Amino acid sequence: MTPSDIPTKDRLIVALDLPSVQQAEAMVARLGDSVSFFKIGYQLAYAGGLPLARKLADDGKKVFLDLKLHDIGNTVARGVENIAKLGATFLSVHAYPQTMKAAVEARTGSSLKILAVTVLTSYDDGDLHAAGYRLGVSDTVEARGRQAQGLGIDGIVCSPEEAAALRRLVGHQMHLVTPGIRPAGSASGDQKRITTPARAIAAGSDYLVVGRPVVEAADPKAVAEAILAEITPSLAA
Ligand code: C5P
Repeated sequence: MTPSDIPTKDRLIVALDLPSVQQAEAMVARLGDSVSFFKIGYQLAYAGGLPLARKLADDGKKVFLDLKLHDIGNTVARGVENIAKLGATFLSVHAYPQTMKAAVEARTGSSLKILAVTVLTSYDDGDLHAAGYRLGVSDTVEARGRQAQGLGIDGIVCSPEEAAALRRLVGHQMHLVTPGIRPAGSASGDQKRITTPARAIAAGSDYLVVGRPVVEAADPKAVAEAILAEITPSLAA
């Protein structure tokens, strides 16, 4: 599926950043038909979230397993082979060449798509320098984006601020998936590089990952529906 064919509803990925499978299932039920795509990250994966991924996939939902894998190539490959059996749509890995290469090879023959995380959206230039990197955020994102494309990665996880530059760099075959989304008026939390849903789509994002603004809302379904309503005109434009 090329980015322009993605149904609008599938473009919102709700991050189920919740402490238990029970709470995650309650959130999925509250969101009902409004949301078709869910992200399971560290918190839930380590609390029974992997069987939940299979259950959601069996129920016709799409799942992004945000496990951000990074290890020696052989370990990544063996892990990806088993993850591919869960029925998830996306799996994230950190955008290091050995890791990306191993993940792409190991998912061959399955429907799992591999997303590479360029630079976490809670990082700014100072955080990268503190971690020992010479390049700043935008140069690192660009370099890793180019490597990801060369290695056959299916999509890139990036900040909405980098989406336009990455789209120019990688063209329209790779999916751009952007966390760091904040509908106007919601708290930024620990995210440093954020934008609104409509601006992220206008900048070239294909999928928006939204966690706290939805799952911590008094009415999560209303917030999810408002986000989808906000992006619809940008998609038609
Ligand atoms: O609550 P919030 O909307 O900030 O959640 C964003 C989600 O996206 C979190 O689950 C976080 O782990 C994830 N994420 C991110 N930055 C990345 C990759 C994933 O914030 N680069």
